[in-house]
Amino acid sequence: MFPSFFAVAPKDILPDLKYPEGFIFGVDSAAYQVEGAVMEEGKGPSIWDLASRQPGFITDNTTADVVDLHYYLYKEDVARIAALGVNGHSFSVSWARIFPFGAADSPVNQAGLDHYADVIATHLEANITPVVTLFHWDTPLALNLYYGGFASPNIIDDFIHYAKTVFTAYNGSVHTWYTFNEPQVFCAQVGGAPFNATFPPGIDSTNAQFHCSYYLLKAHAGAVKAFREMNITGEIAFKNSDYVGMPWRANNTEDIEAVERTVAFNIGVFSDPIYTTGDWPQILKDTLSPDILPRFTEEDSKDLLGSADFFAIDAYRTYWNAAPPEGISACVNNSSDPLWPGCFVEVMFDFNTGWASGPAADPLTPWLQATPQFLRPSFKQYHQRWPAPKIYYSEFGFTEPFAGVRTPQELFQITEDVERTTYFMTYLGELLLSIQEDGIPVVGAFAWAIMDNAEWNSGLSARFGIQYVNYSSPTLERTYKRSAFALSDFFQTHL
Ligand code: NOJ
Repeated sequence: MFPSFFAVAPKDILPDLKYPEGFIFGVDSAAYQVEGAVMEEGKGPSIWDLASRQPGFITDNTTADVVDLHYYLYKEDVARIAALGVNGHSFSVSWARIFPFGAADSPVNQAGLDHYADVIATHLEANITPVVTLFHWDTPLALNLYYGGFASPNIIDDFIHYAKTVFTAYNGSVHTWYTFNEPQVFCAQVGGAPFNATFPPGIDSTNAQFHCSYYLLKAHAGAVKAFREMNITGEIAFKNSDYVGMPWRANNTEDIEAVERTVAFNIGVFSDPIYTTGDWPQILKDTLSPDILPRFTEEDSKDLLGSADFFAIDAYRTYWNAAPPEGISACVNNSSDPLWPGCFVEVMFDFNTGWASGPAADPLTPWLQATPQFLRPSFKQYHQRWPAPKIYYSEFGFTEPFAGVRTPQELFQITEDVERTTYFMTYLGELLLSIQEDGIPVVGAFAWAIMDNAEWNSGLSARFGIQYVNYSSPTLERTYKRSAFALSDFFQTHL
């Protein structure tokens, strides 16, 4: 056990409050980020396998070819999280393991289907609820080469076919499903290098993101329609990202508008069509012409509205928003403005006092500060703006500053991850109040991440794990960090 000096004991945080019956305390992972074994047992390449090979694209020049080798070590990994008392694991299926060439009329890889069947069975045997994401950014590379991936409407039918294959294979073993992980972040990538090398005709770096948003929403709606028509047991939605913030200058009308723009571009873009209006947020339609942002047909809207059984959000932080220095309308009317089309600024320090909203994470994740004090207002906003019968807090987590530069000889310093521990303890306390005091129907919380992993462009150096992975050792052994034990204690005393 870890020493208790100078740190709050998990059992002393709101000791009289408990999480509701059936609450899922989980950890998160994603296929590309943990599996490795990228060329094994029939898997096709994904766009991130290509991206990680572009010189300079990953800041520390690592790939995820091996990473945690979770593809082979999943039994050990499941046993290690079961030992902590975790009762959920949200992970993703790699599309290119099931369809190496991606397309609906291409061969299925039985080894891939068998693999995830055993992964799911292993979780069930350990009493860990498997929560499955169909798409966590790893488009089969073949689809990018054939037609430009998510920049093309061809993706819709291929995704639906893949979704149906996975639903059929695991129906009855998986209860909670997500179609897409953080589509807003994903579609923002699609317009840039190296994903832009294969744009279909008519697509460019300006409209790619919004065409992606449109096709992805249609793929989501189609998959959910199939889920329901096939009578798959369980529930399905997608994972939102980000926050509903506050105006930086409290009574400044431009900053109040900047909050609405941030919400529209980050959450509303996918959640308004699905949960409330069947349409894009008005702010998007006012900013983006139909050649950039395709408009929905009546049928699209009908398919989209109601195509989720619950609301899910990856909410790592909440910030203030401000208008661009040149003003919102000057920005909106000038598509060369670097802030166009969002035309909002995210501010991480208080306007009145200059103090940060919270402690900073590792410099490799400059977007991340711990802001537990804003969790309750943010969850109230999610629930009010996109009402759903239940909410999953699908990801939250923190990078311990400079952990990536420490050597395995400094393991004793790496495992003492006080900033991450405080992050999780304060967030979970606030979440408890959000449920018990504010009546927000949160039914599960998932800590990112099960272990250190490949953090996209930051590679292996930005370490989000509650377990350390020794990448210089051929056995890639895992070591629990302090935060893992704190989470374990917290779960045990609050369930
Ligand atoms: C959210 C993404 O879903 C995940 O893939 C990523 O690693 C974490 N945020 C941390 O940045």
